[in-house]
Amino acid sequence: MSYFKYLENEVKNVFKEKGYDIAITLSLSNRRDLGEFQVNDAMRLAKIFHKNPVQIANEIKEGLDKNDKFTNVNIAGSGFINLSLSDKALIEFIRDIKDNIDNNIDKMEEKTILLDYGGANVAKALHVGHLRSANIGEALKRLAKTLGHKTISDVHLGDSGLQAGLIVLEMKERFSDLICFRDDYAGEDFELPITKDDLKEIYPTASRKSKENEEFLNAAREITFKIQNNHLGYSKIWDKISTLSKEDIKDTYDRLNAKFDLWEGERDSFKYIPELLEYLDKKGLTYISDNATVMDVKEDTDEKEIPPILLQKSDGAYLYATTDLATIYGRLKRFKLDEIWYTTDIRQELHFTQVFRAAYKSEIVPQNIKLGFYGFGTMNGNDGKPFKTRTGGVMPLDELIDLIKVECRKRLNENIVEEDKRDDVSETIALAALKYADLLPFRATDYIFDPAKFSDLDGKTGPYLLYSTIRMRSLLKKAKEQNIEFNDYSVVKNDSDKEVILTLLSLPLVLKRAYDSKSINEVAEYIYKLTSTYNKFYSENKIVTEENNDLRESWLTITKVVYETNMLLLDLMGIDVPEKM
Ligand code: ARG
Repeated sequence: MSYFKYLENEVKNVFKEKGYDIAITLSLSNRRDLGEFQVNDAMRLAKIFHKNPVQIANEIKEGLDKNDKFTNVNIAGSGFINLSLSDKALIEFIRDIKDNIDNNIDKMEEKTILLDYGGANVAKALHVGHLRSANIGEALKRLAKTLGHKTISDVHLGDSGLQAGLIVLEMKERFSDLICFRDDYAGEDFELPITKDDLKEIYPTASRKSKENEEFLNAAREITFKIQNNHLGYSKIWDKISTLSKEDIKDTYDRLNAKFDLWEGERDSFKYIPELLEYLDKKGLTYISDNATVMDVKEDTDEKEIPPILLQKSDGAYLYATTDLATIYGRLKRFKLDEIWYTTDIRQELHFTQVFRAAYKSEIVPQNIKLGFYGFGTMNGNDGKPFKTRTGGVMPLDELIDLIKVECRKRLNENIVEEDKRDDVSETIALAALKYADLLPFRATDYIFDPAKFSDLDGKTGPYLLYSTIRMRSLLKKAKEQNIEFNDYSVVKNDSDKEVILTLLSLPLVLKRAYDSKSINEVAEYIYKLTSTYNKFYSENKIVTEENNDLRESWLTITKVVYETNMLLLDLMGIDVPEKM
């Protein structure tokens, strides 16, 4: 149990002793002039017990005054209880976590959560939307793990859409004598006559052709349908293209520190589709409308119209919703799950509403399994519009990272970083800049990514956090080199160290809020607050040269705890820390 929870229980026990045996909340005060924490439950109790809230607050104050963890207990207004922590409590807290900062995390009851994020589309360039999915999804996964859950991550690649038919058709036009295109093709192996780089040009070309030429589009549709139905030659070449493209996709996700347990895609759900459609049909849930197979998912309480979910088009083709529903069907057959979380662009919300409703209505998913959609807003450039390349196209993700890398490279301290390491270090800092900026706003909010601003060493930025964390690390290293011990915490000296400790104490609250809202912004704000509060303390005290041994040791111990907390939270956000910068 975290020390914060422990303190909350102490307060709860006082309520209990006074005859009020109910859950109460200890929260950080927003009136720091009155106290560090506040308890606002007296008002609620007054209604239940038909008493005067101030009277209840006074009874509680009497009990809290007797507890040596608390000091300066006072009552404000109509029964708000304010309190601060005694030095004894602050010392006990740091002693509790100094050798194991995990003690500052409240584990939750274990659940198994499958996270669906990433979602790159095979043979198409990744764009900033995929970046956000990877960053946010990965961090949510790490948060869930930190809080004690089991996770399974699936990249769920887009590999069954029209791009499949477009690319295969384009290949057919360019390499018509490839064996897979022959009528008598029987599954023989063959070599793909293109490279990863060719692929980058093939999709845009085919996509352009389909817009100019309806015949091309229709032919591509037909091939897509055939791939979905396992046409031997088309499937074979599409598999090969997918494998080739996945190498690139893997490289990009590696750069972003996004790690997936499953590298599956929409196509992996195809084996479940016939069974699924039959099941829905038997339940009487699907019907034919305009030659397509659909299922109603609207509910009486809907305020806006939720259209039926479209499962099979008149030409037999399956749709995005079909693969998502079949994927859920397959996941529940294979794994014992408590929850499935989706992290995609918020504009896909309606799609997921339809899919989730269909899943529950058909009882493919029982009510006790939670399907959660956690959508995100758009990351825009300085002009407030989606990032574009100089020629006006959608900015590929790798290009964006490279652009930030250039910014970060400019700010590298060349006196510290050896020449052969500069490129790697710039990459690490660039990713910190990018990821931190991406996790800082509430996930559903659109925001502007300004490469220069977020690469700056000053301000609420990834590089600032890296720089400060590295400085804490070198301070500890210096102390070790001078054989200065720091195994204990025994003196609270002034306001600046106290602020650091109080900030550390609130970590469990932050993690809980982030988990509840499925947004990392709370964590991102918190690590900035912890770091800047520590930096203030650092600038106001000469730590290593302090002559009082107990004080020096205490300050170094705080440094160690903050350093370790930062490392933990940076890792939670998927941010690596370089040796030097
Ligand atoms: N491939 C999709 C896209 O690029 C994202 C996939 C999201 N996950 C899902 N299960 N539908 O928009």
